[in-house]
Order: sequence, then C-alpha cells, then structure tokens
Amino acid sequence: MPLSTFIYSGYPTGMNLEIAGNVQGFKQQDGILTIKTAEAEARVYIYSPTIIRVSISKNFNPDDPSFAVIRQPLADFDFDESSVNIDITTPALRLSIQKSPLRFNFFTAGGISLSEDDARFGTNWQGERVICYRRLFEGERFIGLGEKTGNLDRRGAAYVNWNTDAPNHTPESDPLYKTFPFFIGLHSGLTYGLFLDNTHKSYFDFGASTDEETSWFGADGGDLNYYFFGAQGVAKIIEDYTWLTGRMEMPPLWSLGYQQCRWSYMSADEVLNIAQTFRKKQIPADVMYCDIDYMDDFKIFTWNKKTFPKPKQMLDKLKEMDFRLVTIVDPGIKVEEGYKEYDEGIEQDYFAKYPDGENYTGYVWPGRCHFPDFFREEVREWWGAAFTALTQPGVEGFWNDMNEPAAWGQNIPWIVKFGDKFMPEVRNAYGMQMARATYDGTRKIMGNKRPFVLTRAAYSGTQRYSAVWTGDNTGTDAHMLLGQRLVNSLGITGMSFIGVDIGGFSGNPTSELMVRWNSLGVYTPMFRNHAIQGSKMREPWEWGKGNEQIIKKDIEQRYKILPYLYSSFYQSTQTGLPVSRTLAIEHSFDGNVFDERFQNEFMFGDAMLVAPVESTKLTEDVYLPRGSWYRLSSDRFYEGEQIVNVQAPLTDLPVFVRAGGIIPMQSVVQSTNEKGDGILQVHVWNGREANSFVYYEDDGVSYDYEQDIYYKRTIAFNPIEKTINLSSVEGSFKSRFMQLRFVLHGFDGVKLQEEIIENKSGEIEVKL
Ligand code: GLC
Repeated sequence: MPLSTFIYSGYPTGMNLEIAGNVQGFKQQDGILTIKTAEAEARVYIYSPTIIRVSISKNFNPDDPSFAVIRQPLADFDFDESSVNIDITTPALRLSIQKSPLRFNFFTAGGISLSEDDARFGTNWQGERVICYRRLFEGERFIGLGEKTGNLDRRGAAYVNWNTDAPNHTPESDPLYKTFPFFIGLHSGLTYGLFLDNTHKSYFDFGASTDEETSWFGADGGDLNYYFFGAQGVAKIIEDYTWLTGRMEMPPLWSLGYQQCRWSYMSADEVLNIAQTFRKKQIPADVMYCDIDYMDDFKIFTWNKKTFPKPKQMLDKLKEMDFRLVTIVDPGIKVEEGYKEYDEGIEQDYFAKYPDGENYTGYVWPGRCHFPDFFREEVREWWGAAFTALTQPGVEGFWNDMNEPAAWGQNIPWIVKFGDKFMPEVRNAYGMQMARATYDGTRKIMGNKRPFVLTRAAYSGTQRYSAVWTGDNTGTDAHMLLGQRLVNSLGITGMSFIGVDIGGFSGNPTSELMVRWNSLGVYTPMFRNHAIQGSKMREPWEWGKGNEQIIKKDIEQRYKILPYLYSSFYQSTQTGLPVSRTLAIEHSFDGNVFDERFQNEFMFGDAMLVAPVESTKLTEDVYLPRGSWYRLSSDRFYEGEQIVNVQAPLTDLPVFVRAGGIIPMQSVVQSTNEKGDGILQVHVWNGREANSFVYYEDDGVSYDYEQDIYYKRTIAFNPIEKTINLSSVEGSFKSRFMQLRFVLHGFDGVKLQEEIIENKSGEIEVKL
C-alpha cells in the first residue's frame, strides 16, 4: 500500500496520512529557498554558518511570527542541484535535501552525518498534527527540553510540551510549567541542536517505544518549523541558540542574595519581623516576598488595607534594613465591578474571549476571573503601566505566577481566543508574554533601575525578560535532586537565572533535608526558600540552634562568592552559558556524566563542581571528570576521571574546584548593599594548565553598564611562568574593592598572601 493512501487506524477515518511527498519544483528569493511538493511547501533559511532553518507547512502564515527568535536570516545563499539532491553548504555544515521523497539530512562540512530524516517516513501530517521522524544513531544521547523530569540523557523517554499548573508533581510527571522545544543530540563524537519553534502542544520522542531506529518530534498544529544547530561542542550550540533567542541581561545584584519567601507572610508586621530577625541574628539576606495575601481579596495591583495598611511605610522600613521586596502577581483579574483593573479591562476589551465576544471566565484564587490577553501589545502596555501600584511604595521585584495559565480544573476550553488565536495554539507562550509585559512595563516605570522579574510558565526566549523557578515541588530528597536536574536542564535551553523552592514547597522537610537543601541553594542561581500555606515555618532559625548555625554559615558562603557569581552571570549575558551547568556541556562524551549516580552533578560557573547529596547520606560517590580537582572545604587534591567516595556531612556539601580555578570572593556581608571590608580576595587553585577568568562588576542596580560604566578585567593564572596577571581595567566603573588579596591553594608552602595590595586599574602581575 503506498504511504500516501495509508489511513492510520488510531484516527477517525478521513484523517489521511499526508506525507511531504516528492519535490516538484523550487525557487530562491529573498533569502528563502522554497521547495514545493504535491502536499506541502518547505522553506529553508540560513541564519549563520552553523544555523539552518527548515520550515515545512501545508499552509504558511505569511507573517511568520515567532515569540522566541530575535534574529533575521541571511540574504541569498548558494546551493547545488543534482537530479537527486539540493545541497546547501556553509563553512560548517551541509544540508542535503533529497528530492524523492523529500528528506532533510544534515552533515558536517567534512561530510559526516549529524542528523537525518528517517528514510522511511520523513515529515508528515495526521490531520493537523505534524510529525518529523528522524534516524536514531547508534549510541545517540539527547539532552535538553528545559524543565523536564527524568534523566539527564533523554534517550528512551518521550515528552509533551503543554504548560501546566502542576502542584504535587512527582519526579516522573510530565508536562510541567514550561516549554523549551530545544534539544541537543550527541553521537559519534559529534553534536547538533534542534529547536522546534512551534507553540502548539508539542511532542518529543527520543526512541521511547521504537526499535532503536527512530526518534520523532512534532506538534498538534502549525508548521514543522525548526532551527538546526551544527556547531561542534555543546557550549557553542548553547551560544548559537541564545544568539538566536536572546540572552538574559544583568540581574539586579540584590536578587542574587538570599531570598526569603512564604505563602504568605500575612501582614506588614510579619514581613518586617522576619526581616528584623535576619538582621538581629546576623544571617545575611536581601529579599523578602509577599505572596497572594498582601492583596485585597486577591485583586492584582491592590494592597490589603487591614494587614498591609501602609505599604510605603513597610517598604521604607525594609529599605532601612537593606531589604528589597518582591510581590506576586497572577494573571487572573477578579470579576468585580469597581475594581480598577476589572473595569478598565472590560471597558477596553483587554480580556481573552470566546469567539462570540463574551469574556472567558475561569476560577482562580480570587474566584471568578478574566484573563488579560497578553498577546496584544496594548494589553501588555496596560498591564505594565499598572505596576505603579507596586513600584510607588517601592517594590522592585515582580513574581509572575499561575501563568500557564492556571484555572481550577486545569482545562481552559480550547475555543477561548487570545489575540486572533485559539488557546491551544498559543497557550505555551502565555506565561512568556505575561513576563514580557511585566518586564517591559516595570523597566519603563523604574527608569534606570533593574526590575527583577520571576515567572513560573515560560517558552523559549523567556530569558530575555525573566528569571524562572521550577514551581510547586515537595520537601523530599527526591525532589531536591529532581530540582537540580531541572536547573541543569533549563540551563541548556537558555535559562540561567533559575530557582527551586528550597526546602520543598509542599510538605515539611526534615531538618536534615532543610540544612542540606539550603547548602545546595548556595549553588543555585536563585537562592529562595519558599513554603506552602499551612506548612511549618521555614526560616533559618526554625530548625534548632545547631542547624541555624549551619544554615547561617552556608548563607554566608553564598555572600562570600558573590563576586564570582556576579561575573558568572555576566558570562551568561555574553555567551548564554548558564551559571549552573550540567557536566554534559563540557564532558559530552564521557559516559559517567550520564550515569544515574552522577547525573545531578554540575559546574557552578567555570570553576566549581557541586555534587548534590541526599540528606540521609553522609558519604557519597562523586564522579570527577577530566582534569584535577580540590575539595573546596579542605583543599584536598584529587585526580580527575575517577569515582571518589567522599565525606558529605550536613556541614559540608561536596564542592570541588577545578585545578587552575580562579574564584574571586569577598568578606561576609549582611546584604548586597553592605560594602564589606573592601578587599577582593582572588582565590587560585594550583594546576598544570593556564587558566583565566573574566571578572565583572558594575553598580548592580542600574543600566549604566550599557553606557560602558562597568569594570571588567581578566584574571589569568600561568603555572609555567608562575604568575597571576590582572589585565588593566576595561570600563569606567570604580570597583567596590579598593584592595586585593591573593589566596593560593595547593601551592607548596604558600597559602594566604599576607600582603594586601592596592586594586589599581592598570595591569597587575603577581609572582608566585
Ligand atoms: C502557586 C505558586 C506558589 C505560591 C502559591 C500561592 O502554587 O506556585 O509558589 O505560593 O501559588 O500564591
């Protein structure tokens, strides 16, 4: 039976399988190679020598919209045609388009196969659902897809993207809150990436139920529109992917400090009390949160008059204590006449609708709600401007929740329209558009100050607007480890600024788990403790005196490494490389990295390797990859490429530093606003190979760095010449650190250089 007449029995009759078919003709115009078949059309674009886009459709949308992509394709390119193929060659890649039947096969410039259509099936439709079947290579591994449960290596698993409010999710649940249809394939010592830019419900199967020959991906509707990345090296692919979809900007420095949250601190007094307790106990912290109960009846952009009667007074007091406040906003606008946002939304017609024009109503915290249509620019502007209710008293952080969007019952009817699209087509981008509206609006209102935006739902490209957290986890060891995998995986898909609810949102962690999780939080890009309503209080002093001391010491460690962390974020803004990096980025073909025992390990910035350990274990097997390593807490030396069994008491999470590692640190401060002792400690661990680190600083709060008001220099360690060299400073910002002290690890005899030297802006060279 010819494929084109095959009727798939799982679908109602009439849903013919339509295959892309044979090439009937092609033309090139305006940087697009258009290929026609009987059933469909394919378009090929080149974005850079390592990025080629292929889009296959039965019915292209002439606007070619994308929420994710911010780059334009190149103008015309060359191709070669033979009777069998159309070949497009860049300096890095060859795309060979087979004509009969239409297939897209990618090769390295040297002709080695990177990724191919499944020769039998290629791309086809069942109804509106479009799927691309690909060849599965021997030993091929897959990483990516962002916030997905399961193993680091996704081979043998299948996933769905459909942004979902997922309270009580387990380490197996799928889907969760976010959609990042981007994965990286690893085989034959080669790397490639593939981003399916399609916001419909989408599917990725990495050989879950096939005969080890086929993997597949596709979506319920829209075009089979993907970007193929052919750079060699996972870091380079991430760099290309974030070039295409954008990178984060510098976060406010205060948002990298310790953050204390709870659903909810119920009054201004309680918020202030908690903040005061941090200061009294000298436990460093920067951020307090107000969850939904600060509002009047959960009405967004309002304050509860009884419990938060004078928001400005509360914020002024917080400010005096060097605390910033983040408040939650949900999309659901309470249906209530006389409520400003409701009245305006109705009057201006800003809410999502049924096709007959009636506003869609769903139930969330406030009861009956309408939902802003963030897909329309005027709605985003309106939403953004409403933040004055929060910024005027002094709020600087905006936590966007429930934006999958969530409505009780979790089943918003498919007939609801956002902009001119039905819900299923754009659902996966709703949270991103809300975060965008929040970011654009608050950035405008706050003038030169950086807003901090946090979102639960996201789509590819969200890094341009917001940090994310991984939603409602549970206070168990399994969730702590899952959280780390989610962070590591989100990092592959362009998100660097990520948090998990430390301690677990639901349930009550044991005190051992709380201590352990907090110590891992030190090495989580966003360090936030958060807990569900009704749970036991979670603040650092709630766990007994001894544990409080450990928690305090760990939080102090976070503040010590802030100069390193801030520079690591700067790296994310420049290259897209995440702060928390799965070992698979650097050691992509080292099988141990994917071993379930070691798959949660990660690099925190360039120099630190962190091994998460369950709270019930006091020793742990750790895999140290290529290179050599020192334990951070003891300077004990280890050769790499071996499994080591190490002590892991609750006071000492296994953290290692790469030989040659350079970590700038500072003295303990109580908040990022505090100056400290003004000495930048440059820690260097001895190694055989030269290494360098880009140190970056700016004022931490404004956009002045865009006007070159920053401070940047390269710190280089040269073991042959036995020198540490600081290049002369670039940028016109004056460092907070007036002095420098070098702290040397693993150098015979030498440890702490007693001499403290002036941090002058010209080149500095130290002989070891
Ligand atoms: C959602 C959020 C959670 C928040 C709660 C109340 O469950 O994920 O973080 O505390 O809503 O606003």
